Amino acid sequence: MARIKKANLKLGNKSFDLPVITGSEGEVGVDITSLRKTSGAVTFDNGFANTASCKSAITFVDGENGILRHRGYDIVDLVENCSFVEVAYLLVHGALPTAAELKRFSRYLNQHSMIHENMHHFFSGFPADSHPMAILASMVTSLSSFYPLLSHRDPTFDITSARLISKVRTIAAFSYKKSQGAPLVYPRYDLSYCANFLNMMFSSPVDPYEIDVELVRILNKLLILHVDHEQNCSTTAVRLIASARANLYAAISAGICALWGPLHGGANQAVIDMLNRIKNDNRNVKKAIERAKAGKHEDRLMGFGHAVYKNYDPRARLCKKMCDDLFSKRDINDPLLDIARELEEIALKDDYFVSRRLYPNVDFYTGILYRAMGIPTNMLTVMFALGRLPGWIAQWKETVENRKARIYRPRQIYTGPEKRRFVPIDQRKPGIKGRVLPPVVKNL
Ligand code: CMC
Repeated sequence: MARIKKANLKLGNKSFDLPVITGSEGEVGVDITSLRKTSGAVTFDNGFANTASCKSAITFVDGENGILRHRGYDIVDLVENCSFVEVAYLLVHGALPTAAELKRFSRYLNQHSMIHENMHHFFSGFPADSHPMAILASMVTSLSSFYPLLSHRDPTFDITSARLISKVRTIAAFSYKKSQGAPLVYPRYDLSYCANFLNMMFSSPVDPYEIDVELVRILNKLLILHVDHEQNCSTTAVRLIASARANLYAAISAGICALWGPLHGGANQAVIDMLNRIKNDNRNVKKAIERAKAGKHEDRLMGFGHAVYKNYDPRARLCKKMCDDLFSKRDINDPLLDIARELEEIALKDDYFVSRRLYPNVDFYTGILYRAMGIPTNMLTVMFALGRLPGWIAQWKETVENRKARIYRPRQIYTGPEKRRFVPIDQRKPGIKGRVLPPVVKNL
């Protein structure tokens, strides 16, 4: 097909020519950068679902056909052939590492795995039942006051990225240990990235953890599956903060907060909560499906549907297979897996889900896999964040390196009151009819 170069917009009796941009996989974008200046009009796009906020060379997603590639490599090839550290390097630096580059990057990961001893006190300040995502976001912001940030232009940006990737893993494991009231287990130089994490989570001074090679392999794959997903909610948060030229730690902390939401990365915890509710409701799967179909937001089938995939999420397919393999190999029984399989089977035949093209997404099976590894439910979104971190770093770097990048500043369509006369306080009437002031609550 001939390349389209121009789009034409008619607004009343005026017409405007708009340039068309074509991506490397053929996606077509109408460039409206100059539209407001030339026509006075802005575009309206609820949730930005039709808006490309940037040009990016990191990840390609084709939601219609269930395709996901990072820096040109298919997700299946990466999951089958690489360690998480190799893929992290690929995301941040744009190319798979050579053996020498990987060795250097792994050395940095080891060298920077500890956190400043003063930061240990912070953990004690949080209530014991704090959500680990709250701790993670606060600790990552705190890193900016302890560790110098090398510029993205520095040839050793390796160190900055390795420092963050390594320390976030340590913070994640420490926050779990603190929630258990258990002594912290420090990272070890002799262990790989994923083995180190499992050791920090499950080892104790009285009962050393025996590294389970199979679980290390699965953890590598799970983290790779989460490594990036183009301009999703948390990545957009990271880029938005980066667009104001805020530092890397601040931007990543914003990404962690966005990821926490149950419609985004928090869905993995919400899936396990939902499956437990169904289990405690006499395993009434059909009732849960009917409730999800009734349209109430809070009854949605968690782990189902996706803003971009209108097909089976390729990551969910891989997770499901990993689940099947691990559970049959180890002869594990988890009633939640049986409920999840039944939910999927019924939903995929039900016209409500079929007509809306709602399929399992990445979060549907990951929680069950993590449970099998001993990771508690409230740590599930932290696991997502660990995996997504290299993607966020790459997206931050791409934003700050782009000399043409502008500060993110969307417009709006104002729907509030028109200009009105100012009223002094003694003449004001209650603004909202029937409004009753809530009682004053002391000592909140
Ligand atoms: N259960 C029941 N109905 C659903 C669901 C669901 N999980 N998801 C969407 N729908 C319905 C929705 O009510 C709407 O119906 P109608 O056309 O009658 O109004 C229709 O499907 C289209 O939904 P939408 O709200 O336009 O979909 P969206 O693209 O804006 O939202 C989503 C995508 C992921 C937020 C949504 O599917 C959802 O809430 N899913 C459950 C939460 C979840 O699993 N999130 C993880 C997403 S993947 C990982 C990640 O991003 O981190």
